Amino acid sequence: MNTPQSNRKNEHLSLATKFWREGENPQVGATFDDIRWIPGTLRDISLEEVQAAVQVFDHHFDWPFYIEAMTGGSESTKRVNADLASTAAKTNIAMAVGSQSVALKDLAQADSFKIVREKNPDGFLIANLGADHPIENVRAAVDMIDANAIELHINVGQELAMAEGDRSFYWLDNLATIIAKSPVPVIIKEVGFGMGTDLLKQLDALHPAAINIGGGNGTSFAQIEQARDRKHENPLDLSSFGLSTVESLLAAEKVGVKSPIIATGGIQSAKDVTTALMLGANAVSSAGHFLDTLMRDGQAGLQAEIELWQQQLPLYMTLLGAKTPAELRAAKRLYSANLKNTMQQF
Ligand SMILES: Cc1cc2nc3c(=O)[nH]c(=O)nc-3n(C[C@H](O)[C@H](O)[C@H](O)COP(=O)(O)O)c2cc1C
Repeated sequence: MNTPQSNRKNEHLSLATKFWREGENPQVGATFDDIRWIPGTLRDISLEEVQAAVQVFDHHFDWPFYIEAMTGGSESTKRVNADLASTAAKTNIAMAVGSQSVALKDLAQADSFKIVREKNPDGFLIANLGADHPIENVRAAVDMIDANAIELHINVGQELAMAEGDRSFYWLDNLATIIAKSPVPVIIKEVGFGMGTDLLKQLDALHPAAINIGGGNGTSFAQIEQARDRKHENPLDLSSFGLSTVESLLAAEKVGVKSPIIATGGIQSAKDVTTALMLGANAVSSAGHFLDTLMRDGQAGLQAEIELWQQQLPLYMTLLGAKTPAELRAAKRLYSANLKNTMQQF
């Protein structure tokens, strides 16, 4: 039987897919198109030497991108999680599940998350909860899928936009406690509104395993919650709230964040992955685009898309003279006037 929370998970999935399919995600601020790559000096390099692998929280990842947190918590989302996990296993990339809070309240929903470990016994899997959960819940969420890391999402904008969402946010001390006590690395993540310089400094001081800047220009929970609000109980207009992924990455660079940075939000191609790495991301993840691909083209289609990225990324790195993702940071680029202007205000 579906609980209200399970129904919400189904609605998030169908609305996110609809907006991606129809190309209706709202655009906020600078996009990946605001950055152009400039040919660098000639460098001795061959494609064979290029290694796209990264090391993040003491773990070696063959690929610097993964499937970001989306779903679980209902019968239909279990099937989506199963497909995502099988694809992650076949393409050797990491994967995060959606918030497991629903399964902590209703144990009957735990199978929709556990399926990812069944389908991907040896893969790197990331658990997910909101930032208000106590350490006991963190342990339970990690155990549920035998997770290798956990993401704690900070989503004030989304909660306030939901009629049934939280209204109080006493998160900072709790985040510090969880980072100190969690059995696995803790990633603090936004869900699409991005992060500015002050927030980044504040989170960096907590020394998490990574910060996922979760920027705009992809899936928009402002838009999704508005569409769910059929009774017009949401008085918020969040259309001018937040920073894009590109802007958030440059904000992190500006304040010299020491924690590893993960870039999510509107990543739709290996070119976007390359640009995000260029702007200082240690890893990159994509949610809505992968979901949209899965829904349109099935599991084989999603696998083909990921394999295409795995073919393209080393080629782009060779083009830019970078033998490793870290070397992409030195690649020359042009910023649009709009983006330059934004950066001056950080
Ligand atoms: C259907 C759907 C459900 C999501 N559920 C969660 C969630 O439970 N927890 C979370 O941290 N992020 C969740 N997200 C946010 C994504 O992890 C990601 O931060 C956001 O969608 C921006 O990335 P994108 O533009 O690649 O979709 C969800 C995204 C989608 C599309």
